Amino acid sequence: MKNEFFIAQISDMHIVNNESQNNLNNIQLEKTINKINSFEPKIDLVVATGDLTDNGYISEYKVLQKIISKSIPKVLMIPGNHDKRENLIKIFSNQKYLYNNKFFCYTKNNLPVFLIFIDTLVEGKPEGEVCEERIKWLKEILFQNKDKPIIIFLHHPPFDSGIWWMDAIGLKGRKKLKQIIESYTNIEAILAGHVHRSIQKKWAGTFGHIAPSTAHQIELDIKGNKFLHINNEPSAFSLHHWSKGNGLTSHICYIEKSKSYVNSEVKDINKFKKYFTKAKLEFDKFEK
Ligand SMILES: [Fe+2]
Repeated sequence: MKNEFFIAQISDMHIVNNESQNNLNNIQLEKTINKINSFEPKIDLVVATGDLTDNGYISEYKVLQKIISKSIPKVLMIPGNHDKRENLIKIFSNQKYLYNNKFFCYTKNNLPVFLIFIDTLVEGKPEGEVCEERIKWLKEILFQNKDKPIIIFLHHPPFDSGIWWMDAIGLKGRKKLKQIIESYTNIEAILAGHVHRSIQKKWAGTFGHIAPSTAHQIELDIKGNKFLHINNEPSAFSLHHWSKGNGLTSHICYIEKSKSYVNSEVKDINKFKKYFTKAKLEFDKFEK
């Protein structure tokens, strides 16, 4: 088994159909997939953490299928509150992992970290839930895999973001979920979407992370006076790098570069390289 791997977490893509006047979300996902395909080192897996489409229409899933079929790494999906299970499965009938349960909850065990995917969708509602049935399923999976490092993916984050109107449509059943998660020490991270901006939080003794949207971001509205504001902050995805010995490191990858800064040319680059190489050797020796 590999000693390290890279997962690109794409979230809240909100794909629209061809009749839509505004297909910017589709363009941004195409750019995201291009970036993932050309990224070095090679990305092992793409995980799409919900709000795959804007309305859950079959026509939108068809557009989504067309775009993600260009992804070189395999793409695994879980639904978000904008999705519809019935339509998702009609278009992605080849994705057998989605059939295992009543909910689209499943696991993946061919990486050095065991991956758990929890479906938090409550059809027709913006808020999510981990109901008794899903909790029972998770409990069994965690118990059976307590000797492995684990990463959990879901759409609705199990903690507040501080943006009241997003938290109002958060995850129900989180108290029970927290009790279970904090009783294990092998859970490396819980990775969510839904909020359309990158947020980090220590939660239930593990690392909580919310990925940005590959489409639009929402305003950092802590004061609560920018209700439903979206903004033009850049589209992005999360890149999770796990390696044996160093554990999980999560990065934000912007789809496009800022127009404000350009690569500056460093004069005497060899002089700097010499210094940094020596510093690295000294650092490693010091930390031994
Ligand atoms: Fe969303």
